[in-house]
Amino acid sequence: MSGIYDDPWAYELACSFRDVSAEVDALLEWTVRHRSSGAAARTVLELAAGPAEHAREFARRGVTATALDLHPAMCAYADQQAKEAGLELDVVQEDMTSFALGRRFDLVVTMLDSTSHLMTLDSFVAHLDRTADHLGPDGLYVLEMSHPRDRLTGDPSVSTGWTVDRDGVAATVRWGEPSDELDPVTQIADDHVTMTITKADSPTRVIEDVVPYRFWTATELTAAVRLSGALETVAQYGDFGDVALTDPGAWRMITVLRRA
Ligand SMILES: C[S@@+](CC[C@H](N)C(=O)[O-])C[C@H]1O[C@@H](n2cnc3c(N)ncnc32)[C@H](O)[C@@H]1O
Repeated sequence: MSGIYDDPWAYELACSFRDVSAEVDALLEWTVRHRSSGAAARTVLELAAGPAEHAREFARRGVTATALDLHPAMCAYADQQAKEAGLELDVVQEDMTSFALGRRFDLVVTMLDSTSHLMTLDSFVAHLDRTADHLGPDGLYVLEMSHPRDRLTGDPSVSTGWTVDRDGVAATVRWGEPSDELDPVTQIADDHVTMTITKADSPTRVIEDVVPYRFWTATELTAAVRLSGALETVAQYGDFGDVALTDPGAWRMITVLRRA
């Protein structure tokens, strides 16, 4: 069965509600703010990059960018999109819990809750260890996760359903249904994903998938960082501005880490 990650074009369309350029602005601003040198990142590694929209935006700005993903279709798509845009992008097909690129970066990022694909504490700690090994002495790791409010309260900060419209193609996306409850012991939910794509003069296309999601709390993240011992927390944000994680308006959990 093919799913949403087998169709990187559709996945990218589904996620086009994001302002990737503004997010990259924030990522660069945080490197200036939190690196001891105060220098903007010149080398970036995006982990679990999927279509690598952020890595491509970094490359567009002249930053040396590498995108890593486990899925061959995502890697091929990221590579093709970069080439078509005339961008230098190194794409590697690797696992974010075991990669060893033999290079260090000013900035490593994992966007859009991709660590929800790490199902166990051991795999999360292995991921942090591998990431730390790829940071330069003044490097930062920025990890964007869902706000814990989304799964811990009845008052989520984001909706699981949305619509997007890009270049005359419209899509209605549902990422998770009310019945997709977390298993209270494993903190894993099987999120049911449905994407309905409509375009004038083309038949409607429906993609259905079930994507396992592991929910990580803020305190578990702190514990995983301590358990790793290779990283320490520098700052946390509740969005790509300066909203605090504890602010009622916070809608993401974004953590800035550096080598311990
Ligand atoms: C929700 S998508 C996010 C993609 C991208 N970060 C973004 O912001 O659009 C999650 C991605 O994680 C990748 N992935 C899942 N497990 C992985 C692993 N162990 N190592 C590397 N990539 C992984 C999937 O192939 C998929 O492309």
